[in-house]
Amino acid sequence: MSMVTKFVLWSLLLLALVGITGSRAIWNNQNSDSEDFTYWQGQYKDVAESLATDSAVKQATRDSLIEVKQVTVGQFTVTQQDGTSQQRVDRCQSCHIGLLNPQMTAENIIRTVDGKTVTTEEVPKYLEEHPKTLRIIKTIGAHPGISVEGEGARDLGVIHGEKFTYGLATEKSLTAADFTDYGLQKTNLKQHPFPTFGCTTCHYGSGRELIEKNAHGDPERWLSPMLAAKYMEAACAQCHAQFDKTKLSVAYLPSMTTIARGEKLFRDKACYGCHKIEGLSKGNIGPELTYEGRTAVPETIEHQLWDPRYKTASCSMPYFFAYREHNTDDPDRIKDIVDARADELKKTGGQANIENPEIRESLERHGYVPNGKAQEDVDALVTFIASQTGNNYASSASSRMTEIAAYNGAQPEKVDVTVASGKKLFEESGCYACHAVGNPDHKGKSMDDPAYKGGVAGPELTWEGSRHSTQWLVEHYENPQAFVPSSIMPIFPFSDTQRKALSLYDQSLRPTGTKTVDPVVDMPSTQMKSLGAQTPDVATMTR
Ligand code: HEC
Ligand code: HEC
Ligand code: HEC
Ligand code: HEC
Ligand code: HEC
Repeated sequence: MSMVTKFVLWSLLLLALVGITGSRAIWNNQNSDSEDFTYWQGQYKDVAESLATDSAVKQATRDSLIEVKQVTVGQFTVTQQDGTSQQRVDRCQSCHIGLLNPQMTAENIIRTVDGKTVTTEEVPKYLEEHPKTLRIIKTIGAHPGISVEGEGARDLGVIHGEKFTYGLATEKSLTAADFTDYGLQKTNLKQHPFPTFGCTTCHYGSGRELIEKNAHGDPERWLSPMLAAKYMEAACAQCHAQFDKTKLSVAYLPSMTTIARGEKLFRDKACYGCHKIEGLSKGNIGPELTYEGRTAVPETIEHQLWDPRYKTASCSMPYFFAYREHNTDDPDRIKDIVDARADELKKTGGQANIENPEIRESLERHGYVPNGKAQEDVDALVTFIASQTGNNYASSASSRMTEIAAYNGAQPEKVDVTVASGKKLFEESGCYACHAVGNPDHKGKSMDDPAYKGGVAGPELTWEGSRHSTQWLVEHYENPQAFVPSSIMPIFPFSDTQRKALSLYDQSLRPTGTKTVDPVVDMPSTQMKSLGAQTPDVATMTR
């Protein structure tokens, strides 16, 4: 025997051994209550065979091998938590075997498995009452967005609508709104063929794993979890986020409305003032979030947003989405309601219905009531933050460097120094996230003033013009911490003219007919400055 033949024979033998022990290991690893891929492929064979109308297809389905199905995705490597890359190998199709078979609709699977004929309209209700069948459909059903060629515009897919939590769309959908919703949500799979994209590019999860709970992921065991459907645009953004040099912001596909909303909120809620994201924001009070989507999972990001103090009791990040009910820092006052809005939420049932018990518990411990209207904003922000992986398949590393350089090198805009441009800047810069402003001429409680709006993390600015001179205000914008050492107000990257315009607007906030503040009164004299004083009157700066 030649060396080559010997080698080949030996490797074949070895391979066979690996095959046997390998699959043993897989089998032994199963929990008795969870079905493995061989089970799902068996289920699929039964259903697909009975649905096949062509005898050749029937035979081929019957004869198909039960085996691990795997795609190796050459183009899109996985970036690990530590930044290193790994080849993407996805075995999800070992269980999700019917994804490309257009016959695997909910209706067909129900008919085959349960022997019941249900119409499209009846699918959601039926599945609500038959969780076992739902589980089978989720596993071996056709993938949303698969179009059936040659059968007109028949389009299959999972829809998640308001009243329609689960179902497969065939020719039509339940309501026009659901149909539109689906049109927006579905992903054209012709543009993303499985052999090129695998599954984990869009779903995350741990592609190599063959056990359901491992494949779907578990951060506690270092297995990357799948993205919940509501956060999926974070994955799409890896390929569909284009830096726009003229606006120094990111453009997404028109259908990616959640993440676009998240990016807007990142500005409106002043997150950008405290957090740096390379190429997008320069904040430096909180931790950098450039790689947050790689090092944190959506659940912890969500926790941070509802309850910023859940990890660190002294965290200065404001509660943007919850109101303070009582003062937990002072045990004597624990019964006092400190924010009327929290009381209102509790009374009217406007409190958010948070599923995660850990989030509920920590909010309660800190005395905060989550705002029910904030859920969509929180989801959008989580999606946006989770998309920050520092990784973009659509742009090369060098063009990313160019984008970052363009952002870092950009000078803040020059504006007209007028009240109007200051007001515009105030509205666009996220100031309302921390400051409330009302009508200075309003008599009575601020809450009853229809013009009153804004947050409470900073002082109310309705009478700011009666409190400080423009000179004080400009210097405060340059460095709030020089005036109030522990201030959480960020240093915003404004130009001189922007700071002046803002100060003019602030000055306009005072009751009609009252005078502005003379700098002599509220700026320290040169002599006081030389003694280290920043301001003569710290007491007026209440929180
Ligand atoms: C061992 C079999 C198995 C493997 C491997 C597997 N899954 Fe699943 N998957 C299931 C089952 C079973 C369900 C239905 C879960 C249920 O009961 O709702 C499911 C559900 C899902 C769902 C729907 C989740 C939901 O709650 O609506 C998605 C998405 C999904 N899998 C994606 C993946 C991806 C991506 C991979 C590869 C990383 C993968 N699966 C690997 C068995 C598997
Ligand atoms: C181009 C992105 C993309 C790729 C690639 C992709 N999916 Fe999906 N998948 C989606 C979207 C979007 C949905 C619908 C999400 C939603 O609303 O539930 C979905 C839904 C699903 C569902 C049903 C989820 C449910 O809620 O019931 C399963 C199961 C699934 N995908 C598995 C896979 C598997 C397995 C692969 C790899 C063979 C894969 N997907 C590849 C984007 C993708
Ligand atoms: C790994 C990269 C990647 C991911 C992840 C990805 N796509 Fe794509 N997508 C592509 C590529 C490549 C194309 C085809 C080239 C093109 O037309 O831009 C494409 C095309 C599209 C198109 C058609 C674009 C057009 O202009 O016609 C849509 C819509 C789309 N993707 C939506 C999504 C959605 C929604 C998701 C998330 C569920 C997603 N994609 C995830 C790479 C990706
Ligand atoms: C006043 C400054 C400030 C503002 C405004 C702010 N944050 Fe934070 N943020 C912080 C600080 C400080 C921490 C560190 C908390 C800790 O260590 O527990 C933090 C932590 C975080 C974290 C967790 C980071 C990590 O890896 O531990 C996330 C995510 C986050 N912020 C997102 C946001 C978002 C989104 C917004 C806007 C809605 C926002 N932040 C607004 C100061 C701020
Ligand atoms: C993260 C919360 C936060 C954001 C965002 C924020 N501020 Fe502040 N701001 C504060 C706090 C807290 C103070 C009180 C401590 C201090 O003076 O620095 C303050 C103080 C001020 C004062 C002085 C009030 C006084 O009379 O003492 C002005 C004026 C002001 N902010 C304007 C703005 C403007 C304009 C923006 C938007 C560009 C803004 N702030 C954004 C938290 C914030």
